[in-house]
Amino acid sequence: MFKYAIIVSSDKGAQGLREDGCIPVIQKCMDTSFELVSSTIVMDEIEELQKAAIHATDILGVDLLLISGGTGFSHRDVTPEALNPLIEKFTPGISEAIRAYSMTITKKAMLSRAISGIRKQSLIITLPGSPRAVEESLLYILEPLKHGLEIMVGSAQECARKD
Ligand code: MTE
Repeated sequence: MFKYAIIVSSDKGAQGLREDGCIPVIQKCMDTSFELVSSTIVMDEIEELQKAAIHATDILGVDLLLISGGTGFSHRDVTPEALNPLIEKFTPGISEAIRAYSMTITKKAMLSRAISGIRKQSLIITLPGSPRAVEESLLYILEPLKHGLEIMVGSAQECARKD
């Protein structure tokens, strides 16, 4: 089973001014291969995001860290800027796939600046901030994501296609 953590980047959510819808949606999307070990809502601040991300990857050692929100064009959207210096190996294909699929649903998906990559033993994926966008993105990547995680943690040695 893969351990995962969720961080939501939202000023309103962190201040209790808006009920978060992303954490429950992510939990609904993740199947029995995944165990949630931590979820937190932080302000749209680089330092807060980095502190929460490093806690999940370096202290908790999760296999997967999902970060929702802060990937758009607002001056408060700083999730890619916060994560960029923390990522050791970028995995652009995941973020490109999410954008490409999402573009078949809404052209506004081109406005996502989301990034993804590996830090130590953790795969970090940033996602848009709306629960619907999170659901659309996660359901699309879930199966290949599991294969990537298996390779990352060493339980699958090669990319053998079965489809
Ligand atoms: N992706 C999907 N699948 N569905 C959506 O509705 N919304 C887009 C985009 N990606 C959307 C999506 C919009 S409107 C924006 S502005 C960007 O994600 C960034 O979202 P964020 O600012 O909430 O992080």
